[in-house]
Amino acid sequence: MDISQTVRNPFLLKIIIAPERPKIKCDFIKRENLNMNIIVAVDRNWGIGCNNKLLVSIPADMKFFRETTTGKVVVMGRRTLESFPNGLPLKNRTNIVLTKNKDYRVKDALIFHTVEEVLEELKKYDSEDVYVIGGASVYRQFLPYCDVAHVTKIDHVYQADAYFPNLDEMEDWVVTADSDEQTYFDLEYTFLKYERHG
Ligand SMILES: NC(=O)c1ccc[n+]([C@@H]2O[C@H](COP(=O)([O-])OP(=O)(O)OC[C@H]3O[C@@H](n4cnc5c(N)ncnc54)[C@H](OP(=O)(O)O)[C@@H]3O)[C@@H](O)[C@H]2O)c1
Repeated sequence: MDISQTVRNPFLLKIIIAPERPKIKCDFIKRENLNMNIIVAVDRNWGIGCNNKLLVSIPADMKFFRETTTGKVVVMGRRTLESFPNGLPLKNRTNIVLTKNKDYRVKDALIFHTVEEVLEELKKYDSEDVYVIGGASVYRQFLPYCDVAHVTKIDHVYQADAYFPNLDEMEDWVVTADSDEQTYFDLEYTFLKYERHG
């Protein structure tokens, strides 16, 4: 996010100079020359879901998700699609869904059966307009193709069965912007922007 975007952002993301931190090698990360985005809400343990549901629904985070992805391309797994209200694709976005099921059809969604097929389809779009929106398996598989991650970090530990890779332990991801601490009832959370460096 550049500074002009920061000024428009209601959460007043602050650009920060990333401190040096110990480097931990992550072998499964394969650098690709793409600039796609990830958007995710995580708890303190990088948990993202349980029983195919979100851990918590924070209205301001939902609004941020809606505003960030509207008019863009969203990439998701079949289980995430089915976790949406009535299992319907998101309005005003190009919905790309991964499933191994060759018979799977959903109105207003583009269905693909391998990561490679999705990457081929994504060549039609500006990669900066592509947002990987989950769930755990799709985040994991597409992380190597993303350079920006919008992470809502919720300061609470939930019971979870789906996790996002811990970017704080990855040598090439650094926080480049953060918001002031936000609250929703007694929950505290922060909007963070991570970028891949190097
Ligand atoms: N906190 C957040 O920001 C956030 C965002 C999104 C989702 N979530 C949570 O994440 C959880 C779901 O994550 P998940 O990992 O269980 O499910 P998922 O990633 O949404 O979907 C998994 C499904 O996608 C298909 N798939 C994945 N990789 C594929 C590949 N390489 N080729 C073909 N098909 C592929 C398969 O569908 P088939 O089984 O049909 O073959 C697989 O079962 C839920 O709890 C959800 O609420 C959290």
